[in-house]
Amino acid sequence: MISTAILEQLKKEETPLYYYDLPLLRATISAAKAAADQWGFHIHYAVKANNNPRILQEISTLGLGADCVSGLEIETAIAHGFQAKSIVFAGVGKTEKEIRVALSQGILAFNVESLEELQVIDAIAREMETHASVALRINPNIDANTHHYITTGLDENKFGIMMHELEDCLTLIHSNESALALVGLHFHVGSQITDWTVFKRLCLKVNEWNTWFIERGIVVPILNVGGGVGINYKNPDGEAIVDFANFFALFHRFLEPKPGQQVHFELGRSLVANCGSLISRVLYIKKGVNKNFAILDAGMTELLRPALYQAYHQIQRLEQGELPVEATEKYEVVGPICESSDCFGKNVELPVLVRGELVAIRSAGAYGEVMSSRYNLRQPLQFYFEE
Ligand code: LLP
Repeated sequence: MISTAILEQLKKEETPLYYYDLPLLRATISAAKAAADQWGFHIHYAVKANNNPRILQEISTLGLGADCVSGLEIETAIAHGFQAKSIVFAGVGKTEKEIRVALSQGILAFNVESLEELQVIDAIAREMETHASVALRINPNIDANTHHYITTGLDENKFGIMMHELEDCLTLIHSNESALALVGLHFHVGSQITDWTVFKRLCLKVNEWNTWFIERGIVVPILNVGGGVGINYKNPDGEAIVDFANFFALFHRFLEPKPGQQVHFELGRSLVANCGSLISRVLYIKKGVNKNFAILDAGMTELLRPALYQAYHQIQRLEQGELPVEATEKYEVVGPICESSDCFGKNVELPVLVRGELVAIRSAGAYGEVMSSRYNLRQPLQFYFEE
């Protein structure tokens, strides 16, 4: 919630801008960490959700590890306080350069997604006369009941090691000249998961796989169950912080790590989504034939999720204008970009808007700033941090 005092500040700022509520970020990270600590679980922050330097610093200070998907994410995470030994490196397409970066930094583990990738990591590690700690990403074939663009754990997705390659992976890891150390199993079923029975099914699948490895004499030190906890985009103030206590309790209840096995998570959205809002000015109100358009100075270039996934973000008018708030109007809230998909919401009921007023597009802290672009040669993003 943006206070009146902050609103007065924001009115003086150039828009569009990303507003970050750092006290809420700290409260969220602390709640997640405390809930995980209760069971001895480890959290890696999925840097892809938001790599703003201020956000990274806050999160690293509170003692989380990092989950990175590129060499530059690894270097950026380390530059902003994350320990190399707490970094996992995921992604189906790691380049040789990125593998070298990860090896020279001494990260915790590569989350490996294919046999060929494993062979390349092994060859580079041997050439660098070091060893590579790897976790094998297993595709649990679980439907995450989420948008198909962000479902990752099904057989038809590109993620994870194909079952028919698994034995060859183990043979390579255990060969005499191998520079590989198997440190974990990695799973991730998708993002924005609000049906928590998905996580229960994931736990049961992880248990099965853990048993499969144990039967082959392999007890991996780390079970990494990924991320994906959804947030309530409809209620950013009422449910600002996910119920982490129950989330981790579910894993404590259903996951069966063997003595000495650690449980790791890779959380992105649930840690940063609600601390961010995209603040935008109403440029014009256009009365259409059947509807009214509210044209904002922010568009899909600043927040792509609605255009790309038809994602819902709550839109709020921030100012108390001349008219009473009871006077409402339905708007199609759109941006200035030359694309019809540049729309934040259709049929959005809002207090009557006038040119120059500020609106907030809520829950934009995850996959917002990071997915922005300079299409149409847009102005660089502006920021406001509430300390
Ligand atoms: N681990 C892996 C292997 C992942 O692929 C992801 C997200 C995460 C962890 C973090 O998931 P989270 O806790 O944030 O759900 N751009 C999309 C989301 C893409 C998610 C990609 N993977 C969106 O705006 O909804």
